[in-house]
Amino acid sequence: MTQKTRMKLLPGLAVLGVALSAATAFATAEADRQELIQYYTAKFPNVKLEDYVDGALAFDPDSKAEYDAVMEFPPFVADIETGRKMWETPFKNGKTYADCIPNGGRQIAGNYPMFDEAKGRVITLEDVINDCRVANGEEPYKYTDMKTMGVLTAYARSLSDGMLVNVKVEGPGAMAAYEDGKKTFFSRSGQLNFACASCHVQNSGSRLRSERISPAIGHTVHWPVFRGGDKLETLQSRYAGCFKSVRAVSAPQGSPTLNNLEYFESSLSNGLPMKANVFRK
Ligand code: HEC
Repeated sequence: MTQKTRMKLLPGLAVLGVALSAATAFATAEADRQELIQYYTAKFPNVKLEDYVDGALAFDPDSKAEYDAVMEFPPFVADIETGRKMWETPFKNGKTYADCIPNGGRQIAGNYPMFDEAKGRVITLEDVINDCRVANGEEPYKYTDMKTMGVLTAYARSLSDGMLVNVKVEGPGAMAAYEDGKKTFFSRSGQLNFACASCHVQNSGSRLRSERISPAIGHTVHWPVFRGGDKLETLQSRYAGCFKSVRAVSAPQGSPTLNNLEYFESSLSNGLPMKANVFRK
């Protein structure tokens, strides 16, 4: 980001300091979600909560029209088909993902990330997939490998299309993980000293270069995305990209820091429908 675009965003930050204090420490997850809904609703009275599943497109009818046209014949169907074959191909021991993932992997993605009491940490759907691989004697996939984990999750997540996000934050361990994710979301970092909230709360709806900035509610429901129609990107690789854009160093994908951030952000989308595999510019 250039100094000039940074300066353009800064006045917004000064005026709209509210949402940072809105998310006071140790409020419940549901209270945080309600406060943010109130904040966005006051800021964008004409945008319906359910439109936030479309991210920045909710603020930009022209881009939404382009999106709708691309989604009629998605250019990335071949990737999802590859993912389906990976999902259905048995492991060397003859078992499949559907044999070891809850509910055969159907209508479950909205339950993740989940706080796993036995493990004492947050697990993502990607962790569930890797645990299943390891339990069946296969090597885990790298979270950053779009050709394996990326393509496989493109199909796996599509099995939960239409499911309403239902992320639970209950008990002290879950609360601590949630607070850690929330802290990451609201902490300024990088040479440009921006927090996720600086852009996705205080500057949501503003233009940054050619793009509008999306609200945090709805952020987690539509992954992976296909940038430019063919470049697969997972949620956590997007997180890494956003850290990079403010010249901050991202924690590794699949690390507790990013898993907790995903946990926090996902709980903000509770009640919204999941829809994997969407076009992004
Ligand atoms: C300097 C501003 C800025 C900061 C800071 C920033 N982002 Fe972003 N982010 C953007 C822009 C611009 C986009 C692309 C337009 C959009 O979809 O919002 C984006 C996209 C995203 C998306 C994809 C939205 C979609 O629907 O495709 C997610 C998720 C996201 N950011 C999360 C984060 C998180 C989490 C952080 C903190 C680690 C963060 N961002 C920090 C500017 C920022």
